[in-house]
Amino acid sequence: MSWRARYPPPGVGGGRVGGGGGGSGMHQVAGANSSFQPRNSTFQNHQRPPAPSFQNNFQQQWLPRGQLSAGESSVDEVEKTVQSEATESKLQGWKAELNLPPKDTRYRTEDVTATKGNEFEDYFLKRELLMGIYEKGFERPSPIQEESIPIALTGSDILARAKNGTGKTAAFCIPALEKINQEKNAIQVVILVPTRELALQTAQVCKELGKHLMIQVMVTTGGTSLKDDIMRLHQPVHLLVGTPGRILDLTRKGVCILNECNMLAMDEADKLLSQEFQPSVEQLIRFMPANRQILMFSATFPVTVKDFRDRYLNKPHVINLMDELTLKGVTQYYAFVEERQKVHCLNTLFSKLQINQSIIFCNSVNRVELLAKKITELGYSCFYIHAKMLQAHRNRVFHDFRNGACRNLVSTDLFTRGIDIQSVNVVINFDFPKNSETYLHRVGRSGRFGHLGLAVNLITYEDRFSVHKIEAELNTELKQIPPQIDKDIYCR
Ligand SMILES: Nc1ncnc2c1ncn2[C@@H]1O[C@H](COP(=O)(O)OP(=O)(O)OP(=O)(O)O)[C@@H](O)[C@H]1O
Ligand SMILES: [Mg+2]
Repeated sequence: MSWRARYPPPGVGGGRVGGGGGGSGMHQVAGANSSFQPRNSTFQNHQRPPAPSFQNNFQQQWLPRGQLSAGESSVDEVEKTVQSEATESKLQGWKAELNLPPKDTRYRTEDVTATKGNEFEDYFLKRELLMGIYEKGFERPSPIQEESIPIALTGSDILARAKNGTGKTAAFCIPALEKINQEKNAIQVVILVPTRELALQTAQVCKELGKHLMIQVMVTTGGTSLKDDIMRLHQPVHLLVGTPGRILDLTRKGVCILNECNMLAMDEADKLLSQEFQPSVEQLIRFMPANRQILMFSATFPVTVKDFRDRYLNKPHVINLMDELTLKGVTQYYAFVEERQKVHCLNTLFSKLQINQSIIFCNSVNRVELLAKKITELGYSCFYIHAKMLQAHRNRVFHDFRNGACRNLVSTDLFTRGIDIQSVNVVINFDFPKNSETYLHRVGRSGRFGHLGLAVNLITYEDRFSVHKIEAELNTELKQIPPQIDKDIYCR
């Protein structure tokens, strides 16, 4: 596929192939970081197509257990015996029959490898669910999955905090899928998330994990046709994933019935308890049975969550795997620049770094669009995304970026939380964020599942207070960017 962007804006810049113009003859980035000079660089321009994504794309080869004896009535007894023996051995060898994805052999940090040694089979999950888990490429549970899956299966409420990219999604989706009774035509689980893109992503994870189950997953968010959702809800739905406003709307209309919904999972729970969402979330809970189970997950839990927890959770099991706040695999640097030099600095980064895919964060919609235009003019392939775009454009950008159609994505905080694109190895804060939660989530878009990543922060004089505050709150130190960056620290 050509690296030239295929669509006109919105969302899509029309960049040239790889790292072309603008990379050479650059001026030194002034300010404190005088050593960060392209002229002395030993780096080549390493803009190359991103590695194939690790998303799975399987053919189903296995028949659900209930279908194994289909057609038996027409065979004689001997054939029956032979068949049942074959079936038996097939069942015993069910693992050998799995359609597993290629092994991800990249280096992984302790954030995901420091487990207790549990296996998914230890949790007595339905075989069809286990098959989906293994076929998704999960070999064994990550630390947060080890802590939460068995507890969630007991029906207990959970408040869980774990680092970005360590597998929180499956930590609530696996028990949700296990608990759903597929014979019962009712919404039994609702998963709430704060953004539409995250809703699409999470619904996809549920479908992949549950691909051998007969569970109907529906995704519903604002920005799409309400009528289509109403029609869809006339068909069976077991698991509903969506943003709070739309689900509340459908529930109030009496189309979405939640009186048999016994599980509510709140992903990015602290964000869902911000002023923007909390009233809708609370109203939704009132439509659910009194004994519903609530699972709350996030990498960040400010104290504001306490009030909600006291009012709605029943003796929750608290999990906190965040003794250390930042990801072990993500190296964080800053480059001290003046505002007008930021684009030059970015250009230098593009020419020096080995970017597989990058997300570049700006603090406003306007700046996202302006920067995407600049990047395109510099000759790099670039898409952009923000919440003011039409949903259809947002979806296209998200889908195409995920599939590696473009190397760089400029975004507002729309993509700060939960978005999981394994081939993103570099995050650039073109604008430095104002608070530590945002910083943590943005940086966590790289280094997914213990992989290595790089975060570069372009910092101006005005940002100095935010930098100190965030460093103190996260107990971390941003290092000044060196003239050369060893690619082993973010590409291994
Ligand atoms: N047990 C596992 N084995 C291998 N890969 C896994 C496992 N669990 C999750 N993953 C993969 O790890 C990646 C990150 O998972 P996920 O998005 O759930 O992280 P997260 O903790 O929700 O991160 P964030 O806080 O950024 O939302 C995904 O690509 C997922 O497929
Ligand atoms: Mg997540």
